[in-house]
Amino acid sequence: MCMKISVIGAGYVGLVAACCLVNSGHEVTCIECDDQKRKKIQEGIVPFYEDGLERLLVKGLESGRLSFAAGLSKSTSAPVVMVAVGTPSGPDGMVDLSQIYDVMTAVAEQQLKLRVLIMKSTVPPGLGAQLQRLFLSGKGSGAAYISNPEFLREGQAVMDWYNPDRIVLGGDNCEAVELAKDLYKDIKAPVCVMDITSAEMVKYASNAFLATKISFINEIANLCDLMEADITSVAMAVGLDKRIGSHYLQAGLGYGGSCFPKDTRGLNFISSYNGYTFNLLKSVIEVNFQQRILAIRKLSLHLGSLVDKRVGMLGLSFKPGTDDTRESPSLDIIRMLINEGARVSAYDPKFGVGREKLLPPGCKLHSDAMSAVSGCHAVVVATDWQEFAEMDWKAARERMLYPYVLLDGRNCLDPGKLRESGIRYIGMGKR
Ligand SMILES: NC(=O)c1ccc[n+]([C@@H]2O[C@H](COP(=O)([O-])OP(=O)(O)OC[C@H]3O[C@@H](n4cnc5c(N)ncnc54)[C@H](O)[C@@H]3O)[C@@H](O)[C@H]2O)c1
Repeated sequence: MCMKISVIGAGYVGLVAACCLVNSGHEVTCIECDDQKRKKIQEGIVPFYEDGLERLLVKGLESGRLSFAAGLSKSTSAPVVMVAVGTPSGPDGMVDLSQIYDVMTAVAEQQLKLRVLIMKSTVPPGLGAQLQRLFLSGKGSGAAYISNPEFLREGQAVMDWYNPDRIVLGGDNCEAVELAKDLYKDIKAPVCVMDITSAEMVKYASNAFLATKISFINEIANLCDLMEADITSVAMAVGLDKRIGSHYLQAGLGYGGSCFPKDTRGLNFISSYNGYTFNLLKSVIEVNFQQRILAIRKLSLHLGSLVDKRVGMLGLSFKPGTDDTRESPSLDIIRMLINEGARVSAYDPKFGVGREKLLPPGCKLHSDAMSAVSGCHAVVVATDWQEFAEMDWKAARERMLYPYVLLDGRNCLDPGKLRESGIRYIGMGKR
């Protein structure tokens, strides 16, 4: 059955949702308040890098079932509204809910004829029930509220949309839950139905658990460094234990991106706010930050003072497959290097021109990896793009300066090959 849906926000989650829902046969009006972004999208250009999304966008526009608008109004609103606006975090971890409240205020003020409001944005547990009370029940439209947290990963968002591990629906209105289930009819995945607050908690608990795995393996890697063990062998064998699983056991510079950092800080804040000290989570956050400092310490160990040392930074996105640099470890490391007096040149395969303003002042952007590492005393591989593993490191070594240090911040290169080319290889917990 074709449903009419308004998706609010055309960011990483909203645009993927809009295009995939259209691809599944629904009719979607995507509301995006950023004029520049919206105009680009309407021309069939995705304003960020996400594999396979542009093809779906063009297909959707051609189908005539995907349209865009600047704001929510009686003419752009459908009976089903899906909210996918940003919920960034403040420095203390408190979730900034201003975008959510703007949307809910618009929904209430314009007295839209909604049946169901589906919340895809990550919001603190307890908020949905409150939003339902404040904006939908009573004098509101009487629409039902469904919490439907999103678990897609940037870089494989389209694939994740169609192949999720589970679909979580939180709500107390059976009819609305059934309608939400219908939206995902073509997707084979267990549907977990629960109350709103529990659904909101699932999202935070999942991200906090994955972040915990990352910080845990990073601590084991740090111990491997001290005891001359090899984290790659350790993690591989640990991950073969089905009770543990092999995902998120890649030691390195720590997690970044638009979700894990803000959601771990967010859950920590929510815990404190509710009178609970989440000690484990506090350590996860602290360990993650320490990994960035560790990179500087490892470089200093081999370069001595960093004043006037030239460092090449390969990789700016927080992981491969995306151009998202939000809370990327490499940006923090560049800031620290520049603070220490080093000169930094950077390259990332998907960091397009015109985005230089996102880089810390003093960092020079290059258009290819070889020119970024030329004349450098040290190189840091901060994102495990395949391109770096396939790079001609022998040629790179010839262009580098003594002591030819390479910090493999993602353990993604072949140490033997690097050493053969005369480069001093340092890994994260690598023997
Ligand atoms: N990015 C991810 O990988 C990911 C994964 C799962 C969940 N989430 C969650 O999904 C939510 C959205 O994340 P994102 O990365 O897509 O954010 P984003 O910042 O990329 O996109 C949000 C979009 O909403 C638009 N917007 C804000 N207020 C609006 C309004 N009133 N009307 C119309 N448009 C409006 C913004 O201009 C922006 O384009 C967040 O809560 C995030 O935590 C993100």
